[in-house]
Amino acid sequence: MILVTGGAGFIGSNLVMHLIESSETVLNLDKLTYAGNLHNLASVDSGRHIFVEGDIGNHELVSRLLAQHRPRAVLNLAAESHVDRSIRDPESFIQTNIVGTFRLLSASQAYWADLPSDQKSAFRFLHVSTDEVYGSLGAEDAPFSESTPYAPNSPYAASKAAADHLVRSFFQTYGLPVLTTNCSNNYGPYQFPEKLIPLVIHNALVGETIPIYGDGKNIRDWLYVTDHCAAIERVLAGGRLGETYNIGGASEKANIEIVELICGILDEERARRDGKSYKEQIIFVRDRPGHDRRYAIDASKIRDDLGWEPKESFTTGLRKTVNWYLRNQGWVRNVTTGAYRDWIAVQYDREGAQGPHSRRRLGDTSLPADQSSVETAPANL
Ligand code: NAD
Ligand code: DAU
Repeated sequence: MILVTGGAGFIGSNLVMHLIESSETVLNLDKLTYAGNLHNLASVDSGRHIFVEGDIGNHELVSRLLAQHRPRAVLNLAAESHVDRSIRDPESFIQTNIVGTFRLLSASQAYWADLPSDQKSAFRFLHVSTDEVYGSLGAEDAPFSESTPYAPNSPYAASKAAADHLVRSFFQTYGLPVLTTNCSNNYGPYQFPEKLIPLVIHNALVGETIPIYGDGKNIRDWLYVTDHCAAIERVLAGGRLGETYNIGGASEKANIEIVELICGILDEERARRDGKSYKEQIIFVRDRPGHDRRYAIDASKIRDDLGWEPKESFTTGLRKTVNWYLRNQGWVRNVTTGAYRDWIAVQYDREGAQGPHSRRRLGDTSLPADQSSVETAPANL
């Protein structure tokens, strides 16, 4: 039995499916925020999956679950994960990512301390973190390694950094057998369409504008989600206690490049009725405040020590992802309701809301980057 927190989210649900395929039984604790979606797990073998709706910050609940199910590991993926939301409303990030992780650590430590010695030495607390804790790289800088100093720039990144420090402290102070992974940007099936890749696919298909922040030249290092799941499994099995492992796809891409690639794939797979390219829908909008310029991961430690390497190339992974979204429009429709719609209205200045991201079209330099303007979507479909 493994306790996965946040197992109804994007990476969490992919991980739950991955672990179940590896014959594990999973106890899945998820608060089912706007980002949690049990439909993601509709295909899993129910004999190997126990779902509990609840908060990692609920010490009593977590303690009871640990005592009752006696897992051999806790994999902590529960988090508020969207940088833009953390800029607008950081409070929930502090609550879940910092306080929640602290309470989960504390309940796990109490459970672990009372285990019989063989189970005690086998137990692991694996904390899933992000490369964003390292801050921003310049164009010529070496990629982030495990010894890069922390320099978080958004409330999200700061909350994850704080959590990482708490995890470290539970190892140093109490000897809790912890492992931390710091991963780059994931993409793939079941990613909530507030994040760049699924948002672009969704907006393109519904005939909306495709918003690119700033000049579109910010760089991220992309990793297909199942490669991340395999890396987590590898660290759980062989990682050295108290250590951190960077995970990345060795696939640095500028945002504009990715958006154009997605538009190109959609042009081939689901051409617009008017024969024009989806690229026509691209607009440049006001930049994200504190927008990190570049992330890149040096994944040589996990490769050399644990033999992990990504299997998916960005070219194959992106096509797979676009095709998944094309085949699963029902899933997308299911999530593009309620809270998600409200968020889009606030963030992208629709329906008269005063969002930070005013919009301008590709190549249009007439509008200053911070000037609010509401544009109607192109009537292309
Ligand atoms: P996500 O937002 O898709 O999912 C988060 C899940 O956590 C949701 O199911 C949500 O309901 C649940 N959750 C939120 N608060 C909770 C709480 N208090 N108690 C229990 N459950 C709670 O996020 P994701 O993209 O799948 O990311 C998962 C983890 O991986 C996060 O810790 C994130 O920081 C980290 N990470 C993500 C990426 C990425 O590119 N998405 C990259 C590196 C690291
Ligand atoms: O690096 C790992 C991190 O990757 C994770 O820790 C986070 O949980 C995850 O959300 C992701 O953070 P990013 O901020 O990098 O991802 P996002 O998809 O929000 O944005 C990717 C890039 O695209 C970033 O440079 C901002 C830009 N962007 C994003 C959106 C949503 C746009 O240009 N337009 C958009 O509408």
